Amino acid sequence: MPVAYEIPRIHVLSIPAASIDADLVVVPVAEDHAAAAVAEFDAAAGLALSTALSRGEFVPKPLETFTTPVVGSGWRATQLLFVGAGPRADVGAERFRRMASAAAGLARLQRRGRLAWLDVEPGTLDAAQRVDILSEGLTIGNFDGGIHKSRPDPRFFLSDVTVSTAANGSATAAAAGRLIGDAINSARALINEPGNFLVPSRLAEKAASLASVDGVSVEVFDERQLETMGMGLLLGVGRGSAEPPRLLVARYEPAAAPADATLGLVGKGITFDTGGISIKPADGMERMKDDMAGAATVVAALRAVALLKLPVRVLAVVPSAENMPGSRALKPGDILRSASGLTVEVNNTDAEGRLILGDALWYARQLGATHVVDVATLTGACIVALGKITTGLFATPQPWADALRAAAARGGEKVWQLPLFDEYKESLKSDIADLLNSPGRPAGAVTAAMFLKEFAGVGPWAHLDIAGTAWADENKAWMPRGASGALIRTLVELARAPLPR
Ligand code: BES
Ligand code: MN
Ligand code: ZN
Repeated sequence: MPVAYEIPRIHVLSIPAASIDADLVVVPVAEDHAAAAVAEFDAAAGLALSTALSRGEFVPKPLETFTTPVVGSGWRATQLLFVGAGPRADVGAERFRRMASAAAGLARLQRRGRLAWLDVEPGTLDAAQRVDILSEGLTIGNFDGGIHKSRPDPRFFLSDVTVSTAANGSATAAAAGRLIGDAINSARALINEPGNFLVPSRLAEKAASLASVDGVSVEVFDERQLETMGMGLLLGVGRGSAEPPRLLVARYEPAAAPADATLGLVGKGITFDTGGISIKPADGMERMKDDMAGAATVVAALRAVALLKLPVRVLAVVPSAENMPGSRALKPGDILRSASGLTVEVNNTDAEGRLILGDALWYARQLGATHVVDVATLTGACIVALGKITTGLFATPQPWADALRAAAARGGEKVWQLPLFDEYKESLKSDIADLLNSPGRPAGAVTAAMFLKEFAGVGPWAHLDIAGTAWADENKAWMPRGASGALIRTLVELARAPLPR
């Protein structure tokens, strides 16, 4: 079977643009600094750049592109691609990622396999950040999800990416960005897999193999072990399916890491969410194969952190089940006992994510996680609140929320904090159990987070609701329709900074 992505070789050079041997040379152009690009490259373009700018055929708005052959003599490359960046003040990590990914996509459409990016537009980042995010962007642009087509469109991948920059020490940043991009691509490929291919046992296998890098130990628990561990919520959700649930634990414990702090990452791994007996409408249900995006996200982040050899202990806990309405399935009104001892009345079997995460959050604390983050395609209500643009962030205490917000900002990803006021807890009351899993429509994203909070134990905890951001509904220049790989970069940035005390 074909692969969904290839990892390009990456080169960092600081030689004159004319000397670069590539099939396509990319030049970022800020809207308010187009004159600089003209001064440097118009001659090579045979005045095509200044002509296009003055005729308004090329406007350097974000992601607008202009391709023209090199006509000036003395150049090794034959084609120039100018990419609009918008105003320089807006050119941060997200803009650079999108420009790089769009440029890679265009190069692939033109069957030009060796792309060079000229680092002539600083934007608002320092050189190392820029080279890092550009390398990620160029790598995630090397993705083609059509792996199940028996007659695929001709597939073409970049083989070589060159970042041409005057900045010293950029090779390390380029290698890091490429590695993070590769981790993102691996998660996207996994999330795109349909439910019949990716059942919980298979997700656990694939996640185990992604996590199996130097310094990481992996364990997978089957349904009998889960029974012994008392994971009644995870087992309960899995009951309606012929495919039994799994729990994966991966630990990265480098010798150089402080022993008194462990970042615990918990990811929702529902390989398909029919809703169970509280079954979902048919329209759009196929999308629910992405309900394991949180699982793929945390495993990819742990892989990247371990490959980057960051000096921090990281633990990933991934509960996985298939939410099906089989004959042994949970029924509305059933009561489950969690591993933590809390009992839950399941009034809606479609609120299954919070159930499996309840057991997993509690277990992450048992294993010594001091700082916990869970990532989940948890609620349609989060999409109502924030749309497909922004990830919902819930966190306590506030310094931990701030650490997540800062990590997302560095990574060029959008998160927005929503409240965890105590008053919302009222609605989780059940007459006959400790908690109710589905309190109804008002503030649905918040009450789901409040449910998780009951299992998050003592210490910093954050919840990222990626229901809207895990999946791109439309083809964009920088991102094809399908899994987005959102929040992996944010988690890696979180692990790069010291954990707040
Ligand atoms: N996986 C869904 C959430 C979801 C919905 C993700 C749409 C992406 C797009 C989750 O398991 C779910 O079904 N949540 C319910 C909760 C409700 C029953 C309280 C929802 O959001 O409707
Ligand atoms: Mn559901
Ligand atoms: Zn779900």
